[in-house]
This record gives sequence, structure tokens and C-alpha cells, in this order.
Amino acid sequence: MARKKIIAGNWKMNMTPSEAVKLVAELEPLVKNDDVDVVYCVPAIDIVPVVEAVKGSNVQVGAENMYFEESGAYTGEISAAMLVDAGVKYVIIGHSERRDYFKEDDALLNKKVKKAISAGLTPILCCGESLEQREMGVTMDWIRFQIKSDLVDVTADQVKDIVIAYEPIWAIGTGKTATTEQAEEVCKGIRECIAQMYDQATADAVRIQYGGSVNAGNAAELFAQPNIDGGLVGGASLKADFGKIVCY
Ligand code: 13P
Repeated sequence: MARKKIIAGNWKMNMTPSEAVKLVAELEPLVKNDDVDVVYCVPAIDIVPVVEAVKGSNVQVGAENMYFEESGAYTGEISAAMLVDAGVKYVIIGHSERRDYFKEDDALLNKKVKKAISAGLTPILCCGESLEQREMGVTMDWIRFQIKSDLVDVTADQVKDIVIAYEPIWAIGTGKTATTEQAEEVCKGIRECIAQMYDQATADAVRIQYGGSVNAGNAAELFAQPNIDGGLVGGASLKADFGKIVCY
């Protein structure tokens, strides 16, 4: 069975609640494409108004982060149950900005992945290499390490429903997109890694996005690659261009 493409916006730390509602309304007529899953991953404070604003449309809402504990004294954190109750379907886990600025390591991310799945959320698990790693030729070794560490104790049945986002750090917010060949090569490598860890059927089911300076001009070529099942879009998800990406 063909994998359905999934195109997600990652709003990062942008959009106040009132700006968020305006953006959703502006994008509403532009993002109608039933052939793909469309997701807005929004700041925590925007979740409730955005869930309300997308009601009745083809758009689903994701969070940008969550904590793995059930509840309790974790000031400032948000639980999986809170996200589910608010109407969230997806959650980004392990974005390079969280790994880098907030020192989230793979052991923590593994706990978050397992908690998200058990709560009924679909993780969008991010991985990707730095420019130094690419230049040293260790890109695929690094990504295999991330994937294997982040999926410890996650079953094949669970993995087939998650989304993996390949985001080369050097391509994020830089306007420097990976070439189509570079993006496809790593997404293919991720699928091979999943096949090796689990089995071919699981690898064939898992959806793998590319992220890093995706825009209206390069989306169609990237998404046409056999192992790229959509995109995780930062900057371009905050403007009308996102409609062109969704309807690539
Ligand atoms: P840009 O699309 O702004 O490069 O961001 C990519 C990204 O980090 C999505 O998660």
C-alpha cells in the first residue's frame, strides 16, 4: 500500500494565540488537499485556539514538545494526556533545536517517544546531522545511532505508525536545502535502518519526512522521491506559501 504523504508545519516559537487564529483562517482555503495529511505543530499556548480554529477542516494539530512523566511536580512541562485531551494528534520529538539548546539526549527522547505512543499520540521523531558530521562522512552512522537509541523498546507495530523527520541541521532556517539526492539518500538509509531493526513491512509502512528549508519551489521535487513521504516545514509554514507546499 502506498504511504500517504504527511506535510507538517513546525511553527517553532512564533505566533501569539490571536496571530495563530488569523494564520489558520488565512491558510484554510489554501491547504485543502485530501491526498495528504496536513498538520500544524504549534506552540503549547496556541494549541487550544488552533484546535478550535481547524475544526471541520482537513488539518490536524500537533505539539512541538511534551514531557514523558504522567503528571506531577514538573514545573513548566506539558504531559501527553494534556495534549490528547486538548485534541492534539501529533507531537514533534527530538527536534535539533531541543537537542541542541535544551540538551535533550536520546535517553530522554526514547522515554518521550514511548510515552507519546502509549498515550495515543503520533510522534514525529526528528534526526539529522551537523555540517561537521556531514563533512566528516559520518552522516548515516550518526542517524542510525539516533534512530536506534530513540526507538529502544518500541515495537514494530508501534514503529509502523510513527513519523520520522530527517532534518539536516545545516539546512534548517538557512535557506540551504539539501539536494534532492542528499535528502533521498538519507531517507532511504533511515528506511533500511528500520528494516534492519524490525522487518521490511515495518520499514515500508513508516513515513519519513524531509525538513530543512522546504519551500514552494522545491517541495514537489523532494516529495517525488521514493523514500520521502512529505515534509516538516519551518519558516514557510507561517505564510501563504504553505498552501503551495501542501498542494505541491
Ligand atoms: P525551516 O523550514 O525554516 O528550514 O525549518 C525546518 C525545521 O526545522 C522544521 O522542523
